[in-house]
Amino acid sequence: MSDRYSSLIRTPVGQLLAKNLGLPNPVPLERYREGDPLVDGTVVLGGNGRLSGALTDALDDLGIASVKAASEGERYKGLVFDATGIESSAGLVELQRFFTPQMRSLEQCARIVVLGTPPEMTNTNEERVAQRALEGFTRSLGKEVGRGSTVHLVYVAPAADAATASTLGFLLSPKSAYVSGQVIRIGAHGETTVAEPVTDWTTPLAGKVAIVTGASRGIGEQIARVLHRDGATVLGIDVPRAASELQSVMNELDGDHLTLDITTKDAPQRIAKHVEDKHGGVDIVVHNAGITRDKKLANMKEDGWASTIAVNLTAPERITAELLKQALVNANGRIIGVASIAGIAGNLGQTNYAASKAGVIGFVDSLADELENGITVNAVAPGFIETKMTAAVPLMTREVGRRLNALSQGGLPVDVAETIAWYANPASTAVNGNVVRVCGQMMLGA
Ligand SMILES: NC(=O)c1ccc[n+]([C@@H]2O[C@H](COP(=O)([O-])OP(=O)(O)OC[C@H]3O[C@@H](n4cnc5c(N)ncnc54)[C@H](O)[C@@H]3O)[C@@H](O)[C@H]2O)c1
Repeated sequence: MSDRYSSLIRTPVGQLLAKNLGLPNPVPLERYREGDPLVDGTVVLGGNGRLSGALTDALDDLGIASVKAASEGERYKGLVFDATGIESSAGLVELQRFFTPQMRSLEQCARIVVLGTPPEMTNTNEERVAQRALEGFTRSLGKEVGRGSTVHLVYVAPAADAATASTLGFLLSPKSAYVSGQVIRIGAHGETTVAEPVTDWTTPLAGKVAIVTGASRGIGEQIARVLHRDGATVLGIDVPRAASELQSVMNELDGDHLTLDITTKDAPQRIAKHVEDKHGGVDIVVHNAGITRDKKLANMKEDGWASTIAVNLTAPERITAELLKQALVNANGRIIGVASIAGIAGNLGQTNYAASKAGVIGFVDSLADELENGITVNAVAPGFIETKMTAAVPLMTREVGRRLNALSQGGLPVDVAETIAWYANPASTAVNGNVVRVCGQMMLGA
C-alpha cells in the first residue's frame, strides 16, 4: 500500500523540510531477504552477568560476528548487553557506561538487546528493583535511538540460559524490522530447554507442518510464504468464497488447502480430520483469520458483535481444543494467536474487536502453563500494518496510525510473519506465553 509521505520526505526537498520543521523522518527499514546473512555487520557484547558465555555460544551458532570491545572509529550493527549481573539500583550505571559511548557508533537499522533476569526470579529485593528498571531504560532508548534502529529487553529465566539463540537470531536480524520496545520472557513458564536444536538456521522448519487460517491474502498469505521459506509444509485455510485465491497461493507454495468457515459447528473436527488423514499431525497452528465489524457500542447490532467474537476468538479456542484433544499437535508444537494493539490500548468503534483481541491475549495466558511436550502458545499484536484493511481507513486517521510510533511508519505483513516464524522455530521451546507487539513501538497503550 502506498505511503506517499514517506516517498516525499525521502526527496532532497523533503529531507530539508523534515529537518527544519521537525517532521517525522521515516528511515527505509532493512528487511531480510532469502540468502542474506542474518546480520550484515558486527555486534558488540557488553555487561557482566551469568549469560556471557551462553551469548557467545548462541551468536557463534547463528554465524553472527561479535566482539567484546568496540574499536574506535568502527561502526556496529548491534549491541547486546548482559545485565543479569546488575544487583542494585547503583549498578544500573553500567548501562550508561556501556551504551553512551556506543550510541554514535551504530549503523542505520541497528539492533540493541538487553538481557536481564525476570524480576520475580531474582534473589533479593534490590536485585528485583534493578532488573525491573531495565524496562524503562529499553523502552526509552527505543524512542530515542532513531535511524530505523530497535531496542528490546529479554528476561531470561536462569534455567533457560542456553535457550536464547532463536530469539537473538530474530531480534538482531532485519527479520524484526518493525518490532521495537518489547519485553520478551524466555523460560518464564517452565519450558527452559531447547527441545530440538536447529542445524540449518535458513530452513529451521524443514519437515514441519503448519496450519495458517485466513491464508488467501493479506497478513495470512505472508505468514504462509515465510513459513514455507523456512521449510514448512503449509496447510492454508480460508472461507469458500476465497477458494481460488487460496488455491493459487498454496499451489505456489507446494502446500495444501482447505476451504471452510472456521466458525461453523464442525470446523474443528473437519480441520482435525484433514490434518490426521493428510499429514498425521501438525507442528504449527497460526490463528490468523480475523474480521472487523466496527461501530460505536451505541450503534452495535448483535450480529456485528457476535461474528467478530466468533471468528477472532471462539474459533481459535475451539480449533486448538480439538487438535489438543485428539493429540494432533506434535511434541514441540506451536500455537500462535494474532491479537492487535486494539486489544491492548482499546480503540474507538472497536469494542467488539478489542474484546476479541484482548481475549486472544487471555487465550495465551490461560494455556501457557497448561501445555505439555514442549508445545508453546504465544501471540503477536500488530499495530498499523499496510494492508487492504488499513488502506480503507480514512486519510487523517490512517496518517496518525502510521506516524505515531518510534519508526514513524506503518509495518508490512511480512513483519508480522517473521515474528510468527520466530515463535514457530523449533529452538523457541522456552519462548512461551509472550505477546509481542509488531507496531514500531507505537505510542498507544505502550
Ligand atoms: N492489518 C492490520 O493492520 C492488522 C492490525 C492488527 C491485527 N490484525 C489482524 O491480523 C489478521 C489478518 O489481518 P489482515 O489485515 O490480513 O485481514 P484480511 O481481511 O486481509 O484477511 C483476513 C483473512 O481471514 C479470512 N477469514 C475471515 N473470516 C473467516 C472465517 N470465518 N473462516 C475462515 N477464514 C476467514 C478472510 O477470508 C481473509 O482471507 C487478523 O486477525 C487481523 O485482526 C491486522
